[in-house]
Amino acid sequence: MEPNSVFSNTVLEGRVALITGGGSGIGLEIASQFGKHGAKVAIMGRRQQVLDAAVSYLESHGVEAIGLQGDVRKKDDASRVVNTVVEQFGKLDILVNGAAGNFLVAAEDLSPNGFKTVLDIDALGTFTMSHAALQYLKKGGQGKSSLEGGVILNISTTLQYSAEWYQIHVSAAKAAVDSITRNLALEWGTDYGIRTNGIAPGPIADTPGRSKLLPEESGLSEKDVTPFVKIGEKWDIAMAAVYLTSDAGKFINGAILVVDGGQWLSKPRW
Ligand code: HXC
Repeated sequence: MEPNSVFSNTVLEGRVALITGGGSGIGLEIASQFGKHGAKVAIMGRRQQVLDAAVSYLESHGVEAIGLQGDVRKKDDASRVVNTVVEQFGKLDILVNGAAGNFLVAAEDLSPNGFKTVLDIDALGTFTMSHAALQYLKKGGQGKSSLEGGVILNISTTLQYSAEWYQIHVSAAKAAVDSITRNLALEWGTDYGIRTNGIAPGPIADTPGRSKLLPEESGLSEKDVTPFVKIGEKWDIAMAAVYLTSDAGKFINGAILVVDGGQWLSKPRW
């Protein structure tokens, strides 16, 4: 059973959020929790069927939701999707860049195009979506006061803090995402009143990332790979997202919140 939220269910009331990669995993849980805390949500993804199922799930939990098909790597898709959100809901307050690509491959077996593909989805996609959303997120943008802008939240990981087997492309891409977070926080925070923050999740149960990195057929568990790993829940990431995007986080800009139970710090006891 889902733990109780510590936030009031109106903490995001009146906000409109767009979540890329919102059709499954962490993105869908963020969309769901945003909705349960009062926001209207739009989810973006490449597969219409996945979006349709996710919208039905959100609606069954009383969330006002729309699904918009598009690829974050494509500038035209990014513009079309943000414009459609504003046409449908009147404004855009929160952009969550959650779309990501991942597969396990040794660096020597990874083609340059495979490397580029993940950089394109994660890093270029985060920039492309943020760039398209800027006109609506900035203070004085449609539905915004002249004092305060919207919020961007970028989802990265912790593996780029050190190194990770068979993840050179993801590690490089997520380091770029963290860099985008800090640079937009500086430029768009100063110029447009937009807060940009990040969440760096650790291993989270029941997500595409976990099943890709530790497929069931491997017969391994996290304990086999590294003995000190604790597994988080999608809910843990979504609560951090509610905190950072609501007024609870109104003085937080340029932060990347690690939500991993301390896993990336862990070392064997000696
Ligand atoms: C080696 C691979 C590969 C694999 C693709 N490529 N899969 N190389 N091993 N398993 C190479 C291809 O050979 C090709 O290079 C290039 O990548 C592009 O492949 P496409 O299939 O054309 O790309 P595309 O259709 O755009 O698909 C992108 C994808 C796919 C990343 C490969 O898996 C995808 O769309 N995933 C999105 C969903 C997803 O992965 N979600 C999980 C996110 S989890 P060549 O040279 O042959 O042309 C996450 C958590 C991270 O991010 C951290 C967890 C701790």
